Amino acid sequence: MKTLTRVAEMQTAAAGLRGAGKRLGFVPTMGALHEGHLALVRRAKQETDVTVVSLFVNPAQFGPSEDYLNYPRDFERDSELLRREGVDILFAPPVEEIYPAGFQTYATVEPVGAPLEGQFRPGHFRGVATVVLKLFNIVQPDRAYFGRKDGQQCTVVSRLVRDLNLPVEIVVCPIVREPDGLAMSSRNAYLNPDERQAARVLYQSLCRARELMQGGERRAAVIAEAMRRLIAQEPQARIDYVAVVDAETLQPVDQVRGRVLVPLAVWIGRARLLDNLLVEEKDGRFSFQF
Ligand code: PAF
Repeated sequence: MKTLTRVAEMQTAAAGLRGAGKRLGFVPTMGALHEGHLALVRRAKQETDVTVVSLFVNPAQFGPSEDYLNYPRDFERDSELLRREGVDILFAPPVEEIYPAGFQTYATVEPVGAPLEGQFRPGHFRGVATVVLKLFNIVQPDRAYFGRKDGQQCTVVSRLVRDLNLPVEIVVCPIVREPDGLAMSSRNAYLNPDERQAARVLYQSLCRARELMQGGERRAAVIAEAMRRLIAQEPQARIDYVAVVDAETLQPVDQVRGRVLVPLAVWIGRARLLDNLLVEEKDGRFSFQF
């Protein structure tokens, strides 16, 4: 595995590989890698010729009171995990390489970036869209792999690619879960053993939503309220949002019809955790992707 830290080096390597007819698969990450990231890497390796992973904790997507400085970082461990997966190139630039002095151009993707995470983390998706656009320009991938745990991020990035005609295919991969259902996340590292137990309530609330829909409930407000009640029974949980939205527009729906996303953001201790359930309703029958 080659490790590159400079934009120019990465662009030269990418241009050379593409010139030689190789298809590039790209997995953008902020490090603190877990099985969810590794599943993206494995998929990229299966589907493309050369796998590039970026490791960059992007300051532009953190708010002033968020965990940028404390975000878990362990370059040696991450690098070893990627080497073992057979990654070809690790791109790990320093901050000043991505945001040099005088940087002033940002991408905004709205309205899909405005609700949910956009409401609770103002400026977050402007940071995500900007760095993803820059990384695509630097790595020049044919395909880029994202995890559906960050459901709204997938929608924002897909919109960015369509709206700006970026020549990259976005591949959205399933959520990878712990055996008890907790979605894998770098921020799970913040949980102490007690909080780790408490965090199961996110997945349990999604299961409650499924149960209700399987029982014929379609009213979004009733489903969301039942989830909130269940989460509120866990004293360590604090809800930012529980919503039932159209899977494309991310606007609230009254009834579960067609493709609907049930996203939630819940604090457990100092960890802000995300999860979601994708529901497809056709002719009164539901299918669920956890
Ligand atoms: O999902 C993440 O880890 C980040 O938001 C991303 C896509 C790497 C951009 O910094």
